[in-house]
Amino acid sequence: MKKSIYDLLSRKGGAPLSMLTAYDYHTACTIDEAGIDMILVGDSLGNVMLGYENTLAVTVEDMIHHGKAVCRGAKNTFVVVDMPFMSYQTSVSDAVRNAGRIMKETNCQAVKLEGGAVYADRIKAIVEAGIPVVAHIGLTPQSVNMLGGYKVQGKTVEAAQHLIDDAKAVAEAGAFAITLECVPAALAQKVTESVPALTIGIGAGNGCDGQVLVYQDMLGYTDGFTPKFVKKYANLHEVMLEAFKQYKAECENRTFPTPSHTFKISEEVLEKLY
Ligand code: KIV
Repeated sequence: MKKSIYDLLSRKGGAPLSMLTAYDYHTACTIDEAGIDMILVGDSLGNVMLGYENTLAVTVEDMIHHGKAVCRGAKNTFVVVDMPFMSYQTSVSDAVRNAGRIMKETNCQAVKLEGGAVYADRIKAIVEAGIPVVAHIGLTPQSVNMLGGYKVQGKTVEAAQHLIDDAKAVAEAGAFAITLECVPAALAQKVTESVPALTIGIGAGNGCDGQVLVYQDMLGYTDGFTPKFVKKYANLHEVMLEAFKQYKAECENRTFPTPSHTFKISEEVLEKLY
C-alpha cells in the first residue's frame, strides 16, 4: 500500500526516512522491492541520464516521461517528481498548471520545487490545488548561475538565518517536507527542530528526518567526481565495464553465443532448403 503524506509525517523526529532518486521503471522496481520509503524523480536526470552539464535544460516533458516510468515501477514507494527550471518560477498559475500536469500524467504523490520564501505563494497555491509539495532549500542547483557554483550554503550568520527563515516560510506555505542540500549538519539539525515539515538531507548530516541520494552516486555508477556527502555502496562502474569488455572479447572470439544461448532447427528442415 502506498504511504500517504500523513504516514510520512508521523516519522517526524522518529525513525529516519530513506529516499533515493530513480528515473526509470526497473530501478524504481528494485528500490520499491528494497522497501525504501520515497523515490525522487529528480531533475538531476539532466546530469545523470541525459548528459547535460546542469539541470537547467530539463523540461516538464522530460520529467513526465521519466516520472511515468518510475510510477509504474513503484508499487508501494511514495514518488515525488521535480518541477524543472522555469516550470514554476514564471508565475503562480504556471506553477499550479505544471504541478497539475506532472501529477495527472505521471501518477506521482507529490512534486518538489527549489527555493524558499520567495516561492511560498507557488507552494501555497499548489497545495491548495490538492498537490503535496516538497520544498528544496540550501544548494538549489537550478540557481547555479546565481550561486556561483555548487557550494555549501548557510555558513555565515546571515545565510544561516536566511535558511531557517526560508524553511519556516515554505512549511508555513504548506510544504510537508523540505530537502536540505549541502548545509552544515548543525544548521540542518536546527532547521529540523524549527519546522513541523520533514527535513530530507543531502549533504546535511544525520540530524535530518530523512536522507536522499542520487542512486548513480551511491551505486558508483560513474567513475567521475564524487561529492563529499556521497557514500558509495557499490562500484557498478567497474562491474559494468568488466562485463562490457568481456562481452566484446567473446563476440570477437566467438565464445558467445554458446549452444545454450542458441535456437535449433531439425536436420530434416535444413535438408529441404536450397
Ligand atoms: O534532482 C535531484 O536529484 C535532487 C536531489 C539532489 C535532492 O533534487
